[in-house]
Amino acid sequence: MCGIIGYVGKRPAGPIVVEGLKKLEYRGYDSAGVASVKDGKLFVRKDVGKIAEINQKMRLDGVPGETAIGHTRWATTGAVTKENAHPHADCNNEIAVVHNGIIENYQELRKGLEARGHGFRSQTDTEVIAHLLEEEVARGASLEKALVAAAVSLHGSYAILAVSTREPGKIVAVRFESPLVIGLAEDGTFASSDTLPFLEYTRKAVFLGEGEGAVLTGKGAEFFDVKTGRKLAKQPAEVKWMWDGAAKGGYPHFMLKEIMEQPEAVRTAVAQDDSAVQAFAKGLLDAKKVIFSACGTSRYAALVGRYAIEKLADKYCDVMISSEYSYFAGNADKDTLVVAISQSGETADVLDGVRKAKSKGARIFSIVNVVGSTLDRLSDERLYLNCGPEIGVAATKSFSAQLAVLYLVAFAMAGRASEGKKAILKLSGAVGEAIKRNDRKARELAKFLKGRENAYYLARGINFAIALEGALKMKEISYIHAEGMPAGELKHGTLALIEKGTPVVIINPTDYTHGETLSNGLETKARGAFLIGVSDENNEAYDEWVEVPKVEELFYPLACVVPLQLLAYHSAVERGKDPDKPRNLAKSVTVK
Ligand code: AGP
Repeated sequence: MCGIIGYVGKRPAGPIVVEGLKKLEYRGYDSAGVASVKDGKLFVRKDVGKIAEINQKMRLDGVPGETAIGHTRWATTGAVTKENAHPHADCNNEIAVVHNGIIENYQELRKGLEARGHGFRSQTDTEVIAHLLEEEVARGASLEKALVAAAVSLHGSYAILAVSTREPGKIVAVRFESPLVIGLAEDGTFASSDTLPFLEYTRKAVFLGEGEGAVLTGKGAEFFDVKTGRKLAKQPAEVKWMWDGAAKGGYPHFMLKEIMEQPEAVRTAVAQDDSAVQAFAKGLLDAKKVIFSACGTSRYAALVGRYAIEKLADKYCDVMISSEYSYFAGNADKDTLVVAISQSGETADVLDGVRKAKSKGARIFSIVNVVGSTLDRLSDERLYLNCGPEIGVAATKSFSAQLAVLYLVAFAMAGRASEGKKAILKLSGAVGEAIKRNDRKARELAKFLKGRENAYYLARGINFAIALEGALKMKEISYIHAEGMPAGELKHGTLALIEKGTPVVIINPTDYTHGETLSNGLETKARGAFLIGVSDENNEAYDEWVEVPKVEELFYPLACVVPLQLLAYHSAVERGKDPDKPRNLAKSVTVK
């Protein structure tokens, strides 16, 4: 789940590629590099670290020429070292490649190449591509023909960009499973992992399909089928997303800005085309078997969605962790409806299950944020989140938008869509209230949590998913080990871990779960826990009360998640961690 970008055109390519990489950095940020071609020479600059730091040190944006490719890495194969950073070149330093994905059979390919005299500089899977191209080009192939030939022997997922000193003014791009989009601008052509890097230059984008490639020059792009080499006619789409350069809007981090955008995100999430919502609702009602498939935060949204659908429309839906659903997808059939939920629309675990179920005749519905993403294009029906680009690795506004869309679908399934829309629009006010009431509180609690290494989040019923989400936010950005669990499960084991001062957060609104969740909280308090109660009403049992606005029972997940996002955010800041770019993680997980 790296970010790759290429530019060929009239402008100096270095600065454009480096600025583009900065907009892709949420995809991976352990090392980065750029390669350009000028006057028959290849210029490669790369190092370990974040792009701004590396650029400071070695002027990545200073590479000469109007043709360049770049990469920001999330290490999969090979440690985080300068040698393993991309781009990778061939033996003669004539060809350079950048790659997002995993070449599963790279060891076998490497053995063959080394036996044929190639010298390797890195421990990565990607470098085999540069040497395979070297062999094809040495046989007289053009760069695109060489990439078509090399692609035949590659197993796994890939989005690849290649340049060669023998063919200046050209970038060749191919994709299989990993995302790649071509941007067509007046004075140049882009290839990128997503649209963000070229939105300030053009809105004309061509999303490459599975097994498709493109030859980019300063005048535009030609498309081809990788398997056959056959030319393809492609129509550009108009990208509606805005990218404002100073995207943090004055906030210290994207995450805090995106938390503050949630009232708006809830409103825009229900600004859906009524017929699309009705089609979605009808599909769920008619399907014999409904399976929600998602990962991480998106799965927690599905858990809330399942409750709402059960409660409002009396329809049972299954919720599967996508990486596990892949093992079940084989028994999908034409009566199965898979509803995939994904902010990025590129999560490999989600796509894998979807492709398998689709091949068995299942219908695919999706709730997705990135328009034109692979999941969007694999779907029979989709509802977009409409919450704009989400840059912080920790999902916040996309989660609120997912809940809003799922609530709307549940109301539509019950034939109460317009009533539901009104209620959800009103709810966006409560979300704003929850933010206002808790930002200062969360800062204070973060000071208390600063020195803690463990925390537990408990809840019941529809709020159980919020215990999971609160714990995930805390884990992924503050690195405090946090466990979210159904409050009723505590006494079946985890209670053994509770001791004096252990932070326990109970999501405890005055709904149908209130009494039982409170008793479970008291069980931990009896073992010395420091009890933090997230509720619309205070209780003497709480050591700290986190107040949320009173809302309808169904909507407490959305009201209660906001202070937990703020608690995680301020805990990360308090512990000196970068909330936007947590270690070892990335925003879009495009490998299985
Ligand atoms: C959430 O904060 C994480 N970034 C992660 O769990 C994420 O929800 C998961 O990777 C799924 O991503 P998706 O919604 O883009 O598919």
